[in-house]
Amino acid sequence: MTADPLEIYLEERDLARALREDVRTGLTAQPKWLPPKWFYDARGSELFEEITRLPEYYPTRTERAILAEHATEVARTTGAKTLIELGSGSSEKTRLLLDAFTRHGGLGTFVPLDVSISALRQSTAEIAEAYPGLRVRGLVGDFTHQLDRLPTGGSRLVAFLGGTIGNLLPAERAEFLRSMRDALESDDWLLLGVDLVKDPAVLVPAYDDAAGVTAEFNRNVLSVINRELGADFDPAAFEHVALWDPEHEWIEMRLRARRPSRVRVLDLDVDFAEGEEMRTEVSAKFRPEGVTAELDSAGFLVRRCWTDERHLFAVVLAQVV
Ligand code: AVJ
Repeated sequence: MTADPLEIYLEERDLARALREDVRTGLTAQPKWLPPKWFYDARGSELFEEITRLPEYYPTRTERAILAEHATEVARTTGAKTLIELGSGSSEKTRLLLDAFTRHGGLGTFVPLDVSISALRQSTAEIAEAYPGLRVRGLVGDFTHQLDRLPTGGSRLVAFLGGTIGNLLPAERAEFLRSMRDALESDDWLLLGVDLVKDPAVLVPAYDDAAGVTAEFNRNVLSVINRELGADFDPAAFEHVALWDPEHEWIEMRLRARRPSRVRVLDLDVDFAEGEEMRTEVSAKFRPEGVTAELDSAGFLVRRCWTDERHLFAVVLAQVV
């Protein structure tokens, strides 16, 4: 079967405007910062795929193993008719769920939502082909803004995997979970992948790999701004920094200016002092009891929490109460 035409709730020009606003806000702030969503142009998505295969980057393979082990129980417990995946990207891990639902029967529709129209075009076509009889409706949108566009009715399971929820700051996370709750109805389900708090000796190398792929991924955001906004960043003038913040329990990625520089972007002259650091990503790590509490305050009840034997990563199945 072929996928339904993509439903577009976010246009190129909305993205362009959002990037301009984020760059203006972040580069005029003290300290400077940029939101992590701008890493993912074609090159950035490729680099991220490469990161997921690095020996140091355990989250992807660990989550995949957890899903492989428990996908059948997800299908059986939820009996969902519609599976919605937020920030679906290549939808690679989702196939474990789709396979389980296919064996279990009952799933009628798969709805991946992603900002990348090219990633969606490819993944919806591949999935429609691989799962005949499954309706595939790709939504182009931003998971923090387009939750009101999710299909209604039936019993729904929303999957938000990969630990991407960790990219939101605590207040953003609370708001996101709340709006997710509001977009759903009683008895609907949420499947959430979260990276767990652990020894910094394991965490830090996952964000600062020996091959330098994460460093390139981090610097790629500057190339995105150069291309999209005609800025003149010299990515090589910035050094990759990954550090563990034990107070917030998150990994922070930064770009540190190797030397003083002035960058022209939009109508701004942005000065960097030597050694100045700009935050490019927060990747929060969780404790099971913390996830349960956050879900609880948003109106979800945790029904299952699966982890691996090293307690690196967790997949949580929660239900709307
Ligand atoms: C895709 C947001 C889950 O935070 O681990 C990987 C992105 N950043 N290496 C993460 C990322 C640096 C990743 N998420």
